Amino acid sequence: MTDDMAAAYGEMASDISEILVPAADIQRRVAEIGQAVSRDYAGRNPLLIGVLKGVLFFMADLLRAITIPVEVDFMAVSGYAPDARAPGVVRLVKDLEIPIGGRHVLFVEDVIDTGLTLNYLLRNLQARQPASLEVCVLFDKPEHRLIDLSLKYVGFQLPDRFIVGYGLDHREKYRNLPFVGLLKPEAFRRGAKDLADPNTGHGQDFGSL
Ligand code: IMP
Ligand code: MG
Repeated sequence: MTDDMAAAYGEMASDISEILVPAADIQRRVAEIGQAVSRDYAGRNPLLIGVLKGVLFFMADLLRAITIPVEVDFMAVSGYAPDARAPGVVRLVKDLEIPIGGRHVLFVEDVIDTGLTLNYLLRNLQARQPASLEVCVLFDKPEHRLIDLSLKYVGFQLPDRFIVGYGLDHREKYRNLPFVGLLKPEAFRRGAKDLADPNTGHGQDFGSL
C-alpha cells in the first residue's frame, strides 16, 4: 500500500499514525496460508469456523486461497468487559449451523491478544467432539498472552499494540481499511473509555469482536 493509496481512504487514513502491515503483505501471507491449508487438509473436507465480525475479510480471502473443497460457518459472540469476574467468558449470540461432530475443524481468528476469548470458544467447540480442532490466526500479539494456546497457522506476529484495519475495528470503525495500522492517540480516545490505553487498547471493553 503506497501513501497515495492510503490517502484514498481520506478521513480514516488521517487517523492512522503508522501502517504496520501493508495490504500487499497481507495478501501474500494469506495466499501462503491458503496453500498450506490446501496441502495439510487434502481429502478431509475441512470446516472453517470464524467469529463475526472481525474475521470477515481474512475468512473471505483465505477461502479464495484454498484450492480443496472446504465449508465455512460462523459464530457470533458478545464480549463482556475484560475486568469482569470471569475474563474471556463470552455470550454466544449466534451458534453454528453445521454440526461439527467428527469433522476436521479449523478455527480462523483475526487477532489473538490475551487468548482468553479463543480459549473459551475452543473449549466450547471441543466438547462437540470434532475429529480435529486447530487454530489459524492472522495477527498474533503474543506479548500479552495469558493462556498458552497451540496455533497451527500464524500470519504475522505483532507487538502489543492496538491495531485497526482488515476487519479489526475501533468502535466499529476502520474495518474496511485494506492494511493494518496504529491509531493516533486522539483518534483512539474519540468515543473510547478514558481508562483504555491508546497504545495497547488494554482496558477497553470490546462490545463486538
Ligand atoms: P483476546 O484478548 O485474545 O481474548 O482478544 C479478544 C478480542 O479483542 C479479539 O477477538 C478482538 O476482537 C479484540 N482485539 C484484541 N486486540 C485487538 C486490536 O489490536 N484491535 C482490535 N481488536 C482487538
Ligand atoms: Mg475477533
